Amino acid sequence: MSGLVIAIDGPAASGKGTLARRLAEYFNLPHLDTGLLYRATACALLDEGLPLDDEEAATAAARGLSLTDFDDARLRSREMGEAASVVAALPQVRAELVDLQRRFAAREEGAVLDGRDIGTVICPGARVKIFVTATPETRAQRRALELARRGEEVDYPTILADVKRRDERDSARAVAPLKPAADAVTLDTSDLDIEAAFRAAVAIVEKARG
Ligand code: DC
Repeated sequence: MSGLVIAIDGPAASGKGTLARRLAEYFNLPHLDTGLLYRATACALLDEGLPLDDEEAATAAARGLSLTDFDDARLRSREMGEAASVVAALPQVRAELVDLQRRFAAREEGAVLDGRDIGTVICPGARVKIFVTATPETRAQRRALELARRGEEVDYPTILADVKRRDERDSARAVAPLKPAADAVTLDTSDLDIEAAFRAAVAIVEKARG
């Protein structure tokens, strides 16, 4: 039997990254945060002084990525999340990144991937699909705390506006928009702390495994 593939999707700052990391630890599976692929692509363009909508350059940057490039705190910044959301709307960039993600998911032991289109496009056959959501206000509060912990002081209204803009951009794009797969289980974490959300996610995985 092939390995356990867990697909976690959801909007910015929904908590999907933390949940994916914890599930990977718990089930002893490798984890790929696919947002980093788009962040690293955007970062390459910014470093070269190129516009984020230069599809040819962005596709070349995406092609040149390797999974070892991602150990960079700069990729996790607010600026890079915004920039990633712009390059992620370019169809050729998405097409370029499909194989790398599918190869990761095809490991014998299985894998946990988190992103926006894992359950719908990258791993439609995943045994477990979880769509993690929370209200924009909750997500903005969490993001503000997380950025403050990393020394990036940003006021709450700016972050809330960011979260809403990224929701709109990620959901409205023509290719692989953010949406739950038909067979995904939705996990709303608005009223859950991380431990409760984690327990709920483990229960979803256990149930799906049968
Ligand atoms: O999950 P994140 O905040 O690191 O993602 C950054 C941006 O990358 C996000 O706004 C949309 C894009 N993205 C995507 O389009 N598809 C994915 N599978 C992951 C991220």
